[in-house]
Amino acid sequence: MNETKTFHIITFGCQMNERDSETMAGMLEEKGYVRNDDPKTSDVILINTCSVRENADKKFFGTLGLIKKYRENRPGTVVGVCGCMMQQQHIIDTIRAKYNWVDLVFGTMNIHRLPELLDNLTNERKKQREIWDSHRGIVEGLPADRTDAFKAYVNIMYGCNNFCTYCIVPYTRGRERSRAPRDILREVKSLVRSGTKEITLLGQNVNSYRGTDDTPGCTESGLSVSFPELIYELQDVEGLERIRFMTSHPKDLSPALIQAYRDCPKLMPHIHLPVQSGNTEVLRRMNRHYTREDYLALIGRLREAVPGIAVTTDIIVGFPGETEAQFGDTLSLVETVRYDSAFTFLYSVRTGTPAAEWKDQIPEEVKHERFNRLVDVTNRIAAEKNAALVGRTLPILCEGESKSDPGLYTGRTPGHKLVNFTASGPVAAGETVSVRVTASNTFSLLGEAAIG
Ligand code: 5AD
Ligand code: SF4
Repeated sequence: MNETKTFHIITFGCQMNERDSETMAGMLEEKGYVRNDDPKTSDVILINTCSVRENADKKFFGTLGLIKKYRENRPGTVVGVCGCMMQQQHIIDTIRAKYNWVDLVFGTMNIHRLPELLDNLTNERKKQREIWDSHRGIVEGLPADRTDAFKAYVNIMYGCNNFCTYCIVPYTRGRERSRAPRDILREVKSLVRSGTKEITLLGQNVNSYRGTDDTPGCTESGLSVSFPELIYELQDVEGLERIRFMTSHPKDLSPALIQAYRDCPKLMPHIHLPVQSGNTEVLRRMNRHYTREDYLALIGRLREAVPGIAVTTDIIVGFPGETEAQFGDTLSLVETVRYDSAFTFLYSVRTGTPAAEWKDQIPEEVKHERFNRLVDVTNRIAAEKNAALVGRTLPILCEGESKSDPGLYTGRTPGHKLVNFTASGPVAAGETVSVRVTASNTFSLLGEAAIG
């Protein structure tokens, strides 16, 4: 008898990885596999790795150790590893030397070859179990098993050309490639037909999106679609309610994009604009191509065009050579901008990046001490900004019942703040309801839906 085979995917890292895992799930389901929440009883276990977040190596090898035990109890389980870490030679070398029981190894540009790799395992003549070469194009038309029914991530571009001196992404995800606008629109329309209300456009630097359709008129005349133009096209998709994007690089944020916020009501009033540091000299050594003043001026223009726009950011603490005074500039920038929330990172060495070679690394205890001070400030401001919303009534796209508190519904404000709310009657997931904010804390709001 042919038993149904099951799979389990463990995903580390960013939205790009989450989106890649949806594609892998879709491809496995096309091959007849069924998702299984329990890795211990799964026939295929995949780990989609990240090399950006802290302790990525430790977490990955720790997980692999655990999976080795599952596999000992269940020989025949196929274990595959993929994602950013597989684009780094020293990781591949370690897997070959110490974890040679891993069945499949593939890189960020070879996700689409997962079915072929699985077939190779059962085909004696095809022994290839590693693929991590650079595939420069974009593969369209792959299936996806989406995590969420009402909101979806949509890749618009892959890779990054910026080479910030701390960052591994340009090495693991390759050079920038933009999807054709026609393919993006087709995907969005198909999502909307199956119930999606909100899309988040994904790219490492969405502002440098330049899409061309391979129709003669488009490429021969050099006509291409910019990121703001793509937003205008998506604004016209009937049934789509909310458009978001991430991440955008301050050096490339154009006046046309700011104008798009004014013209396109579906473009939500939120921007994630990583600053990384508040000091111009540190920004120069990070290779960010903007100054503190440039960044502050940009925030000023955004706020002038879109009053009340929510602004969030990424900040790195303890970049090599960062002095106490330079860190002070980051604190003062945070006080000036007043972010709605901030992702704060301790600088960590990424083998292969320029900053990894620099001698003036900051001692761990200094980094931690600065990090704690920064988090105190970002959290205080986030709480103050949330408190300022108490009493306001906002349109909330309901995502269903709260997992932690079944009596409450959960959803997001236009500015992307999490709201847990009560309602006198049932609210369907995917429905937008008016919610009056009644209380707040650092990371979320509480409210009551006005129904009827
Ligand atoms: N150390 C710490 N933080 C990093 N980031 C990227 N590389 C590093 C690193 N080596 C952070 C940046 C980026 C976010 C996704 O991760 O702030 O915006
Ligand atoms: Fe990394 Fe800089 Fe590219 Fe962002 S813009 S992915 S931080 S190199």
